[in-house]
Amino acid sequence: RISVIIDTDPGVDDAAAIMLALGSPEIDLRGVTVVAGNVGLQASVANACRIVALAGRRDVPVLVGAALPLVGKQAFGKYAHIGNFPDDLMPNTDYEPATLSAVRFIAEQARAAAADGRGITICAIGPLTNIALALRLHPDVARGIESIVIMGGAFTALGHRTPFAEYNIMADPHAAEIVWGSGVPVVLLPLDVTLQALFVEQDFAAMEAHGSPCGIALAGLLRRFDRSDLKRYGRPGGPIHDAMTVAWLLQPELFSGSHCAIGVTLYGPTAGQTWADLHGKTEQRPNACVMTHVDQAGYRRLVVERIARLGAT
Ligand code: BDR
Ligand code: CA
Repeated sequence: RISVIIDTDPGVDDAAAIMLALGSPEIDLRGVTVVAGNVGLQASVANACRIVALAGRRDVPVLVGAALPLVGKQAFGKYAHIGNFPDDLMPNTDYEPATLSAVRFIAEQARAAAADGRGITICAIGPLTNIALALRLHPDVARGIESIVIMGGAFTALGHRTPFAEYNIMADPHAAEIVWGSGVPVVLLPLDVTLQALFVEQDFAAMEAHGSPCGIALAGLLRRFDRSDLKRYGRPGGPIHDAMTVAWLLQPELFSGSHCAIGVTLYGPTAGQTWADLHGKTEQRPNACVMTHVDQAGYRRLVVERIARLGAT
């Protein structure tokens, strides 16, 4: 089984990623580390606790991380209006976060993984602040991290959060630069690939078909916070960005991409803009595997089938 930490700012598509991991026996989800992002830290933490509790998995700890980016002003996500998940869709819970900090937890898990020679994988689906802090505060932990699978960046599909930048990277570009420069293997799933798979009503109905509480909650959230944009995407349906990191671990054969150099603009009006040297135009050493294509039907099937069975009786 793959030992995984999900670093997250829930967020509807974050909920889908956590559910996909919990619904997949191949994955040993060690913990959910939370960062401020889509919504403020308190709501992110509360939402993470709701997801884990709804899945009946109180054995999975939720850990509180960074409330603000490393540098500069906080920017919330495009769906910041969500705040706490609506109680009618994702019930409130008495499940509480652990007392250990997210950064410390990442370090301890990576050290333990290094000590018994296995390595831990991090699915990073929010701003990269917690992971950058872990790498800066405890540089030795880099060798315990097998890979960091990041949903972030945009190369041709610009203009999601600002005219230039994808949200997770734009919210803390300095953290992204630290993570990409750490030497830990990075897999990047940018908007260019996440926007290839759009989920429609038929997928939502299939998530609910077996009576899974998680499937029902997620379908309800996806309907209420509709992400479709016919004008932009040219076809009906909305993306579920973050679950792609977990899908990449489960079925990497669904994806293709290139090993290349990536970078990010740190300051100015285009801060958070990412570049990927997909065509080998620079001398810079490759520091990431950038995914550029997904079998969109295979991805949708995986997400829907696993979540539809999660906790279903
Ligand atoms: C990313 O930004 C957030 O709003 C989503 O949860 C996802 O992680 C997409 O750009
Ligand atoms: Ca997210």
